[in-house]
Amino acid sequence: MKGCFITLEGIEGAGKSTLALALRDALHAKGLRVELTREPGGTPLAERLRDLVLTRGEEHVSPEAETLIMFASRAVHLDNLVRPALARGTWVICDRFTDATRAYQGGGRGVRAEFIEQLAHTVHAGLEPDLTLLLDLPVEEGLRRAARRRADRGDHTDRFESETVAFFSRVRARYLQIADSEARCQRIDALQPAAVVQAQALEALSRLLEQAE
Ligand SMILES: Nc1ncnc2c1ncn2[C@@H]1O[C@H](COP(=O)(O)OP(=O)(O)O)[C@@H](O)[C@H]1O
Ligand SMILES: [Mg+2]
Repeated sequence: MKGCFITLEGIEGAGKSTLALALRDALHAKGLRVELTREPGGTPLAERLRDLVLTRGEEHVSPEAETLIMFASRAVHLDNLVRPALARGTWVICDRFTDATRAYQGGGRGVRAEFIEQLAHTVHAGLEPDLTLLLDLPVEEGLRRAARRRADRGDHTDRFESETVAFFSRVRARYLQIADSEARCQRIDALQPAAVVQAQALEALSRLLEQAE
């Protein structure tokens, strides 16, 4: 049986990486094979494309160019990791996927929806997530958490993390639109304690888990 494809979405600091680890452990405990991965990135070549798109440089990168790099990375990641894993029955938990392109490049940067949907169709027609969890929280709180995490690790901001509150507000608004219009997508209030977020995520997963038994 094919594995399930679960994607985690939300602005910076929403708790995606934290939830991804907890879900992996919970699925492992049920005896499932799980691959935890992320976008952009996830394979060696896709991670190199991630570096290209996240690192700030001298040259202007148009929103369309940024979108193309995201989909180039996605195509490599799907061919080399996601599709083979799903085909051998491994569940895939992916930290960001095409909804992030819709929200960041579409909502945040104003890239036309038709451009994004055409690329989505070319790169992954027939492969949509079985479940998408949107971790939703006010932008200011997300940025506070992300800044704290960076300070703890001594990290620099990347091209997205240095964006404005107005940018992330557009990203959040687009994410909420997607959650409202896509049956596969479930919104979770990410202001709740991590343990509550995890419990609600597992509840959202319960239907997929029943089918897998
Ligand atoms: N539900 C939560 N409540 C409070 N803090 C959280 C919660 N989930 C995660 N965090 C903390 O917020 C920061 C950002 O979380 P992270 O999982 O890295 O977010 P993301 O991957 O979405 O950017 C981390 O320091 C993490 O420990
Ligand atoms: Mg993260």
